[in-house]
Amino acid sequence: MNGYSVAIVGATGAVGTKMIQMLENAAFPIKEVILLASKRSVGKKLLFNGKDIEIQETTNESFDGIDIALFSAGGDISKQFAPEAVKRGAIVIDNTSAYRMDPEVPLVVPEVNAEALKQHKGIIANPNCSTIQMVVALNPIRNKFGLNRVIVSTYQAVSGAGNAALKEMHDQAQQMLNEETYEAHILPAGGDKKHFPIAFNVLPQIDVFDEDGYTKEEWKMTNETKKIMGDDGIKVSATCVRVPVVFGHSESVYIEVEDETASVEQIQNLLNTAPGIILQDDPSQQRYPTALAIQGEKEVFVGRIRKDIDEEVGYHMWIVSDNLLKGAAWNSVQIAEKMHELGLLNVKA
Ligand code: A2P
Repeated sequence: MNGYSVAIVGATGAVGTKMIQMLENAAFPIKEVILLASKRSVGKKLLFNGKDIEIQETTNESFDGIDIALFSAGGDISKQFAPEAVKRGAIVIDNTSAYRMDPEVPLVVPEVNAEALKQHKGIIANPNCSTIQMVVALNPIRNKFGLNRVIVSTYQAVSGAGNAALKEMHDQAQQMLNEETYEAHILPAGGDKKHFPIAFNVLPQIDVFDEDGYTKEEWKMTNETKKIMGDDGIKVSATCVRVPVVFGHSESVYIEVEDETASVEQIQNLLNTAPGIILQDDPSQQRYPTALAIQGEKEVFVGRIRKDIDEEVGYHMWIVSDNLLKGAAWNSVQIAEKMHELGLLNVKA
């Protein structure tokens, strides 16, 4: 059978399992799917298109004969294996932060900068989940009215921190409801000194802090937005917050456009027809997106668009998307689809 050989590294993880699902409906032919994880998972099986596939340990040899390798097993694993996968002929689409700011590596959201794929040298980076949904919504506005400044506060789901963090939230919630003692070992950041409970709580820290008082997650939103939009002049500052939600990141976004003639109605009309966006914006009907309601959807949902009370060129909006789909697994598979469409995959498919 003709088609691509696809490997998923981190196939047992929160994002990896969604990558398997997204591949089932991919718009390119697939010859075989190889599921890779750590030694711990060897022998476990996961379903792809109704067929059991055994998990294998990730080794250099895993990438022999692979055309597309989707990575989501943490930055260290990407650094260890992605160059090896490329050496062995695979195109790597990396969902970790390992290569995102590497000038040699395109950082791609297909609705925004698919053209950048043409510059690839084997590795393509999938942006940070919060950044992806924000740039999908802001790009049409930027193209039409110019964009000077973005101030964003995020409300990020626990699934973004992986399956172990989800289990910890679940356990804490049960223990709190039972009035038992509870512990925190993972959030706000695996690598940091202290940990705090996420159940029934809100944590204003995602990833570790830099010396300037911003977290690495916040810097990702600033730097990745500039790289994806190809414009260092856009001012972007973020406050990234973890909330006890399972799936779906929400964002309160304030923007300042260049064009003083812009209006809420024009922005709504733009977003209503833009690719990958669903507008849900009608306060009279209490119509706006929520994380629970959009779970499992691939699009970016936008509502609550309103003009700033004081600033003539300022607008506020509410942007919600499934962090494991458009924020991760779907954007990665969509990159592969786009590469197939552009003839950038060198195959027998
Ligand atoms: P495993 O399940 O074998 O530990 P999450 O993002 O949900 O935390 O998942 C992380 C993913 O990264 C899992 O699929 C996990 O596999 C995988 N992973 C962790 N360590 C390694 C490793 N050393 N080699 C390959 N995959 C790994």
